Amino acid sequence: MAGQEAAHWKIEDLDFSRIAVDEVRQDENLFYLVASASFIESGSDLYTQNLIDFFRGDDEVTAWLAHHWEAEELQHGQALRAYIRHVWPEFDWETAYRGFLEEYATYCKVELLAPTRGLELSARCVVETGTATYYRAMARCTSEPVLRELASRIAADEVSHYKHFYRFFRRYRQQERLGRLRVLRTIGRRTLELKSEDADCAVRHAVRGRAPERAADTAYVQRLSGRLNSTIRTNLSAGTTLKMLMRPLELPARVQTVIQYPIRQFMDHVFLR
Ligand SMILES: [Fe+2]
Ligand SMILES: [Fe+2]
Repeated sequence: MAGQEAAHWKIEDLDFSRIAVDEVRQDENLFYLVASASFIESGSDLYTQNLIDFFRGDDEVTAWLAHHWEAEELQHGQALRAYIRHVWPEFDWETAYRGFLEEYATYCKVELLAPTRGLELSARCVVETGTATYYRAMARCTSEPVLRELASRIAADEVSHYKHFYRFFRRYRQQERLGRLRVLRTIGRRTLELKSEDADCAVRHAVRGRAPERAADTAYVQRLSGRLNSTIRTNLSAGTTLKMLMRPLELPARVQTVIQYPIRQFMDHVFLR
């Protein structure tokens, strides 16, 4: 385990000089996909403490959250930011991020944890499924090799986060004797929240930084968000996403039809508009 963690990638592993900057610069979609992700990842420390407090006493979970999970999420933010700095150096990331954070902090305060640790862990699996899906799609939507590599590495981290949360979930599921219905309800609820204000908020502040004259144009921002969603939707691998979402339910095959509804909700609300 320690060896595996020690081998975690570094931003320096990426060779930004390989980027064909002139080609990528034109891709507005890509800018917004990368910028909004960089904001959300960089804001991870806002809610890490909530989560650590929630698991106080469970050293395995809190140590992993504090020493691996948070550091990796923040590194995702830094790496994406470095990519932006390289390709769109004129973008004032710091100022735009500050604006984002001010608004985002008000959401995080109300980020309600699920009623039990086990249920919260199942909800965390949903969140990691969402991020893994997003970065896999990001890697597929561009032919630029450095971003492909970066997005793939981040996606692999998100899958690894998912696996940790899933392992912890199984432990609590037994302890708390969680029934499938409760797990399903939590997964459904958190799935709906994934669509959330987070992404919209990030896009809005990225627009404010890049094209301030359009920031107040709600229709434009909505169209842009729609376009970003459709980029993700056309590049996601639905099969993998569904499998990850359904796994904490540990359903026998015959019950799988029952959960078609929340799964469809997931697809509709997160990636369609
Ligand atoms: Fe992340
Ligand atoms: Fe993650």
